[in-house]
Amino acid sequence: MLITRFKIAEGGDVGEMKTKTVEVEINGTRYRLRVKAKTTLLELIRDQLKLTGTKRGCDTGDCGACTVIVDGKAVNACLYLAAHAHGEKVTTIEGLQGDGGSLHPLQQAFIDHYAVQCGFCTPGIILAAKAFLDENPHPTREAIRQALAGNLCRCGTHNRVLEAVWDAAGQVSQGKKGEGT
Ligand code: FES
Ligand code: FES
Repeated sequence: MLITRFKIAEGGDVGEMKTKTVEVEINGTRYRLRVKAKTTLLELIRDQLKLTGTKRGCDTGDCGACTVIVDGKAVNACLYLAAHAHGEKVTTIEGLQGDGGSLHPLQQAFIDHYAVQCGFCTPGIILAAKAFLDENPHPTREAIRQALAGNLCRCGTHNRVLEAVWDAAGQVSQGKKGEGT
């Protein structure tokens, strides 16, 4: 599906010189948006496009709740200027859903391993894990742990998250490799 949308940023008192047009593809949909120079990608995603699966936690780059994938890399959307996303492909948690609403293997693994409690951290962790697994399809447990070190969970699901990502990576079905292998 290719849809072009155009929205003017909120705040009519902002001068034209302080705004910028950004063309970005988010979850397969192309958008043309007007943003303020200081608008973050998180603000664009949540506040302008209403894709609220991406969460705002600390807003300072410390918790990972706002993690999305830009051009294949996991980024903290709260620190990433929307203007820098011009021409990029962005994936949010809404973009992981497959045809007919099927879950991404990571989403299913989080369910299977009870790796979700309140769920606030979950979208960011899943996207961080996806970006990592896309580049490292056969990771060690320690590599997974390190890859997700920037994603905090106040409910303490970290061990279950590790198991879920390990499962999604296919490591369990390949013979239950041990720690650090
Ligand atoms: S909200 Fe972006 S890192 Fe916490
Ligand atoms: S499940 Fe609640 S913050 Fe992680």
